[in-house]
Amino acid sequence: MSQIVYVNGEYVPAAEAKVSVFDRGFLMADAVYEVTSIIGGKIIDFDGHATRLQRSMSELEMVSPVTMDELLQIHRDLIEKNNLDEGGVYLQITRGAPDTRDFVWPDPEEVPCGIVLFTFAKSMVDSKVMDEGIKVISIADERWGRRDIKTTQLLYPSFAKMQAKKKGCQDAWLVEDGFVTEGTANNAYIVKDGTIITRQLGNDILHGITRAAILRFALEAQMKVEERPFTIAEAQGADEAFVTSATGFAQPVIEIDGAQIGTGVPGDISKRLRDIYTEEMIKAAI
Ligand code: PDD
Repeated sequence: MSQIVYVNGEYVPAAEAKVSVFDRGFLMADAVYEVTSIIGGKIIDFDGHATRLQRSMSELEMVSPVTMDELLQIHRDLIEKNNLDEGGVYLQITRGAPDTRDFVWPDPEEVPCGIVLFTFAKSMVDSKVMDEGIKVISIADERWGRRDIKTTQLLYPSFAKMQAKKKGCQDAWLVEDGFVTEGTANNAYIVKDGTIITRQLGNDILHGITRAAILRFALEAQMKVEERPFTIAEAQGADEAFVTSATGFAQPVIEIDGAQIGTGVPGDISKRLRDIYTEEMIKAAI
């Protein structure tokens, strides 16, 4: 069965889907996106992702081409058309396709935003990475300053991930002014003496939807949470480390720049948070 994608109001086979060469997402990364996970054919935290999407659009003065109810229906249609059980839905809204390339934004009345969605399969609930944990390197955070807006400017995170790969690691933690901001596509945490430490929200990190849920569950489980910056040296001396993202849930980090974290195997708090997150999010999926 060929994959069905959604492009500007139509469901079409992926091989037949077309986007203009003048699309500003393509020419200028003038686009915002969301990745939402799907388990058992149901959507995890749709409201969280829809709310962040609306915020990203409003920060960039984009006018949504669909309502959030329509967006939910498109997610459901695509899940059904692609027979998706476990994986994710990728959604991108671009500032549309004017008839030429121009740094000035087009008038939204004349050039409506474009919208593309597709599904992908991924095993998340039972994942080998969870049992083994990942190794990360640190690298300077050289992204633009508005990382709270989920744009498709992903060249630097992609570059950083390649540097990690070259060193036999799975990801990179980005460092600015001596402190970890986040991972290339996830939020970063350490655990010391039972306290979960993660950078506070601001323009310098993405406000992870998984982060919000994990911190809520941690507090409900009477765990201590500190939202503050931490250094790579502090992380290397921590008992545990982990990252969170929609399609990774909570993934343990077992090595940073070659230094083993804790005992070098996924920590108990990371595992417990992952279990709570998985159970609660499956219950609340729509
Ligand atoms: N990335 N920080 C960055 C820079 C991210 O790109 C992401 C998500 C996160 C975690 O956010 P959330 O919990 O809402 O997924 C943090 C997605 C998954 C991606 O680009 O594929």
